[in-house]
Amino acid sequence: METMMAQNNNKQWQLAIALMQAVPRVYLWGPPGIGKTHAAYDAARAAGKAVYSCTLTDDDCVQEVIGCPIPQGDRFVWQDGPIVRAMREGALLVINEVSRASSAIKDKLLAVLDDPEIAEITLPHGERVRPASGFAVIGTANTDTSSLDPALADRFDATVELRGPHPQLVDLLEAHQPGLGRTVLDSYADVARAVSPRSALAYVRLVCSAGWQPKEAAAAIWSDRSADVLTAIRIHAAKEAV
Ligand SMILES: Nc1ncnc2c1ncn2[C@@H]1O[C@H](COP(=O)(O)OP(=O)(O)OP(=O)(O)O)[C@@H](O)[C@H]1O
Ligand SMILES: [Mg+2]
Repeated sequence: METMMAQNNNKQWQLAIALMQAVPRVYLWGPPGIGKTHAAYDAARAAGKAVYSCTLTDDDCVQEVIGCPIPQGDRFVWQDGPIVRAMREGALLVINEVSRASSAIKDKLLAVLDDPEIAEITLPHGERVRPASGFAVIGTANTDTSSLDPALADRFDATVELRGPHPQLVDLLEAHQPGLGRTVLDSYADVARAVSPRSALAYVRLVCSAGWQPKEAAAAIWSDRSADVLTAIRIHAAKEAV
């Protein structure tokens, strides 16, 4: 039987997936490693769209995402960055860590995320770029939109908080090692004590591909917590077997 935790988690992910199909600008946020970026790529695949992505940091400058002239022989030729390419092609733009972007990039995003009918950016050489039909943006982050300028936050049609791993990721871990997916999922009841899916995937790699003993692999990945995690996996596997 599904726990309340699993039910709520499934509900939030279903909402995120439905919104990514229905509206052009969605902001997904939640703890690291739960599958937000992967889900954004899946949404593009389902819609048959190309994907361009950028992972932003405070040090990135606008040229890296919009584009810049690059030397070619004895002249400079304009090269589109991921944002402009996605706009021209009507593709999906995945912006990871929106909240960490520099102020200059956040300012530029105001124009990119405007309603598709009015969105427009002007490139340094004067060309005006408007989004082709189908252009959509998914922002992912570990924090809510409170760190964004209110005008930028307001441009997202919907914001979804995700508190646990994507259900497919839980199933994948469960298929590799009975009890592991459930252990990871349940651990998100207290996010400070979460067993991250990335750590669980690393454990699977060591045990299933590299032939490590479960105890050795768990100690390498979860150190002090390894005995507790292995016990939780065993308990969940036993419950499933009943
Ligand atoms: N549905 C899925 N099926 C298989 N693997 C998945 C799935 N979702 C995520 N993963 C894997 O889990 C790991 C973490 O996923 P992802 O990078 O999407 O997390 P995230 O929530 O974007 O994390 P962060 O906030 O740190 O960027 C990756 O190795 C990814 O390939
Ligand atoms: Mg991500």
